[in-house]
Amino acid sequence: MGPIGVIKVSQSNHWANPSKAGAQEIMEMASALEERGRTLDQQQVNSALIGELAPAPGESVIEVGCGSGFLCRLIAPAVIPGGRIMGLDISPEIITIAQNYAIKTALADLIQWSTGMAEALPFKDASFDSALAARLLLHVSDPGAILKELRRVVRTGGKVVAMDWDFETVAVDHTNRELTRRVLNWRCDHYGGNNWSGRQLWKHMAAGGLSSLKLVPVVSVARNAEDSLTLSLFRAAQVARDGGRISPGEHDAWIGELKSALMAGCFFASIVYFIVSGIKE
Ligand SMILES: C[S@@+](CC[C@H](N)C(=O)[O-])C[C@H]1O[C@@H](n2cnc3c(N)ncnc32)[C@H](O)[C@@H]1O
Repeated sequence: MGPIGVIKVSQSNHWANPSKAGAQEIMEMASALEERGRTLDQQQVNSALIGELAPAPGESVIEVGCGSGFLCRLIAPAVIPGGRIMGLDISPEIITIAQNYAIKTALADLIQWSTGMAEALPFKDASFDSALAARLLLHVSDPGAILKELRRVVRTGGKVVAMDWDFETVAVDHTNRELTRRVLNWRCDHYGGNNWSGRQLWKHMAAGGLSSLKLVPVVSVARNAEDSLTLSLFRAAQVARDGGRISPGEHDAWIGELKSALMAGCFFASIVYFIVSGIKE
């Protein structure tokens, strides 16, 4: 236990380095990224993100922490003709999976792949027009180091965009407020990295030397069982139960009410993603 109120990034967070998981689990993690990308609530978030990145024909874009390459494939059509995308990830296994997903599309020739640390990119200064770190910085111990690298590898006048959620912005309509707070706070503080990353992006971008900073908050709303946030809430209850913060009975009661609300069509949950962009001057 560290100092009171100081939350450390979980050491068991496999998103910090998927290669530490087994082969089967890495496959499942990659396919979870693909499934998440297809959900309605994440489509809304990704569309706002790409709107801020604003890739244009002929441009070169790097995504660090690209995972299965879902965003690389989404961005690629916008840089035609003449542009290129570079997807980089710490995990060689994930990069192989991303390559295989891309090969099945018409975009394969547009996207290059690289294994490496976002903190020490294997590219020369000013190699790209823009750079993106989406749902990555919450999993690393030094987000500032990555933003400095992204600034280094974009050209003067180029753009750096970072995005993360802030899990403590979750709102769920539930009759038991006290239990809801216990579930959400446990999930926020003990699972899946630094879940306050969203609110910290602004300071990291400023410290990274980026100028003309712009903040776009995206309120992502879940109304259906298939939405990504709905699944995250079920997972939250599971980890709060497994961590001993709620009892099995409380888990079942909390989830049971959410399921009833979903059946009745009156389920409501939301979360805020923060997108921060900046220019290299
Ligand atoms: C949650 S996934 C996000 C994937 C993708 N950006 C998206 O939004 O769908 C985070 C990815 O970052 C990668 N990653 C974690 N730490 C990294 C680092 N230090 N350098 C490069 N990639 C890293 C992980 O391997 C994982 O594939």
